[in-house]
Amino acid sequence: MGRSASVFQALLVFLITIIETQWSSVSGMYCADMASTVYRPHSVTITEFGAVGDGVTLNTKAFQNAIFYLNSFADKGGAQLFVPAGRWLTGGFSLISHLTLSLDKDAVIIGSPHSSDWPVIDPLPSYGRGRELPGGRHQSLIFGSHLTDVIITDSSTNVCISHCYVRNGDDVIVIKSGWDEYGISFAQPSSNISISNITGETGGGAGIAIGSEMSGGISEVRAEGLRIVNSLHGIRIKTAPGRGGYVRNVYIANVSMHNVSMAIRINGNYGEHPDNNYDRNALPIISNITIQNVVGVDVGVAGILEGIEGDNFSSICISNVSLSVQSRHPWNCSLIQGYSNSVTPESCEQLRTDCEETSICYDGGSSLAVGSRASIHNKPSANILLNSLLQLVSL
Ligand SMILES: *[C@@H]1O[C@H](CO)[C@@H](O)[C@H](O)[C@H]1NC(C)=O
Ligand SMILES: *[C@@H]1O[C@H](CO)[C@@H](O)[C@H](O)[C@H]1NC(C)=O
Ligand SMILES: *[C@@H]1O[C@H](CO)[C@@H](O)[C@H](O)[C@H]1NC(C)=O
Ligand SMILES: *[C@@H]1O[C@H](CO)[C@@H](O)[C@H](O)[C@H]1NC(C)=O
Ligand SMILES: *[C@@H]1O[C@H](CO)[C@@H](O)[C@H](O)[C@H]1NC(C)=O
Ligand SMILES: *[C@@H]1O[C@H](CO)[C@@H](O)[C@H](O)[C@H]1NC(C)=O
Ligand SMILES: *[C@@H]1O[C@H](CO)[C@@H](O)[C@H](O)[C@H]1NC(C)=O
Ligand SMILES: *[C@@H]1O[C@H](CO)[C@@H](O)[C@H](O)[C@H]1NC(C)=O
Repeated sequence: MGRSASVFQALLVFLITIIETQWSSVSGMYCADMASTVYRPHSVTITEFGAVGDGVTLNTKAFQNAIFYLNSFADKGGAQLFVPAGRWLTGGFSLISHLTLSLDKDAVIIGSPHSSDWPVIDPLPSYGRGRELPGGRHQSLIFGSHLTDVIITDSSTNVCISHCYVRNGDDVIVIKSGWDEYGISFAQPSSNISISNITGETGGGAGIAIGSEMSGGISEVRAEGLRIVNSLHGIRIKTAPGRGGYVRNVYIANVSMHNVSMAIRINGNYGEHPDNNYDRNALPIISNITIQNVVGVDVGVAGILEGIEGDNFSSICISNVSLSVQSRHPWNCSLIQGYSNSVTPESCEQLRTDCEETSICYDGGSSLAVGSRASIHNKPSANILLNSLLQLVSL
């Protein structure tokens, strides 16, 4: 439905300073660990492989060749590929294990607008089929599977996404973990995800989205410092009967929105199933979602929050939110329960629970222990998260 077309029409521009940064926000807590623990004895610069950062030259071969070369250092302590300042146009390329992909402060990677530069590959086992295509799927711009020890993220379930500018036609940042019966049986959650200082613009998607494929479970997500402009949705959680799984312990704070049609949207009837074999009774559990310190101007609707019949979404907490909204019906809530405080325009009655905020609201902090080391076990999850992350940069 025009979706894959928009993927390629969208000119992807993103800017990441992934490592060698002193993280100023507490939400960068995983990040600090990752950057400092891994030293790569071998390093090359993409220009050594003929790449030209003029925004016009297609550099797919240079990326592929550089990574092919660096593969020989995988068992010698790993290697780093450095991308200096410039505008680097490329088609899809694949990462390898024991690699640090280091983008300079002003390095911009631009995805090719031609679909022929994005190879079609097998679907993920947790998806059963391609998401946009019936058989395979288009490879992400920066792709990896069955990898360990990659920095963009490190080899753990901990992921950090920080200091990015993303403009595209789909969700700016999206966290997923498998689709219906495939995701349930694959059972690899996405968790411990830290997101900070992101500016995003998306006519057709959300600034930050969770789901709709979340059947492996998603938890411990902390996002802070988001600027969302000229977008359809600001913050979005999507799911449906048949997904199973859970989304819990999500903390999103310090968000500004400008010209956003729908500031907050949670919906339990997103639909879209891989095939007809999904279990209609597999209901997702959505709870402990905190959204706070949000300012929005030029917003269409404040929030549409809809749970699932017989499966209320619970502990949805919205506080210190101020939106200048055009609609005369700013909030529309059903089948959800939670708490709100200092919300303008006044939130829906389902969120006006009379209780102590601290007792029901996830505070984003305690479970994400500050300064703890990223654990190196559970590598399959790392790959799933890597896919999630790279999906971020490819759509
Ligand atoms: C946020 O990220 C932008 C790049 O998009 C960077 O220029 C800026 O310095 C970052 N801000 C902070 C407070 O780290
Ligand atoms: C909010 O996020 C912005 C970046 O978007 C950052 O500069 C600022 O320090 C953050 N404020 C707080 C209170 O976290
Ligand atoms: C507001 O955002 C939409 C995309 O959602 C865009 O088409 C429109 O041009 C923007 N309006 C302004 C005034 O920038
Ligand atoms: C409410 O949100 C605004 C804007 O994000 C922020 O500046 C302010 O410090 C927040 N107030 C409290 C009490 O957290
Ligand atoms: C709220 O949503 C329901 C179902 O999605 C719809 O029927 C109703 O008209 C909406 N109410 C308002 C005030 O927008
Ligand atoms: C579900 O939430 C609604 C409010 O949205 C509430 O009226 C209803 O009692 C809740 N159902 C259960 C089973 O808790
Ligand atoms: C929800 O958050 C509260 C407060 O942070 C915490 O005590 C509780 O264990 C969380 N619930 C779940 C299901 O994780
Ligand atoms: C998430 O992070 C916490 C604190 O850093 C850690 O104890 C926990 O093991 C991590 N969870 C996973 C699945 O890696």
